[in-house]
Amino acid sequence: MPTMTKDIHSMEDLFVHQLQSIYYAEKEIHKAMPKMASKTSDASLRAAVEEHLKETDTQIKRLEQVFKTMGKPPQAVPCATIDGLIKEAGDVVNHLKDKHLLDAALIAADQAVEHYEITCYGTLIAWARQLGRQPVVDLLEQTIREEKAMDKKLTAMAESKINRLAA
Ligand SMILES: [Fe+2]
Repeated sequence: MPTMTKDIHSMEDLFVHQLQSIYYAEKEIHKAMPKMASKTSDASLRAAVEEHLKETDTQIKRLEQVFKTMGKPPQAVPCATIDGLIKEAGDVVNHLKDKHLLDAALIAADQAVEHYEITCYGTLIAWARQLGRQPVVDLLEQTIREEKAMDKKLTAMAESKINRLAA
């Protein structure tokens, strides 16, 4: 049975719930990314998304390590936010015919996902630190660094080329 919010009675419960939610989110993102990569005609954007897909694979394994450290089985609980972000990305991308507009929209959609991940990991890191779980902090800090780097890379691509081509 997935942890329901009514089962949350401590910060550790809260942490595990958030962990289950980001575990679900990362897995859904992992499923959606190849489709997003296939939509762009920009080689560098496709390469960036494909590289981040590999990182996402590692991030999922890191989350499984965190579950293990917490003495819990890896379990995903649905996250409505990520479902919404992925659905919205699909809706926009599937209706855009112009390849440059499509690339600009893809970057925007991907950055929304990265920003959501950054907020989740930021919270998890703060709670793990409060709980005195330094090994968990160390694992999740590796992931948040990758998410921030991807966000920066996407900004650089948008500002150096993609937005100009779309305008
Ligand atoms: Fe990410």
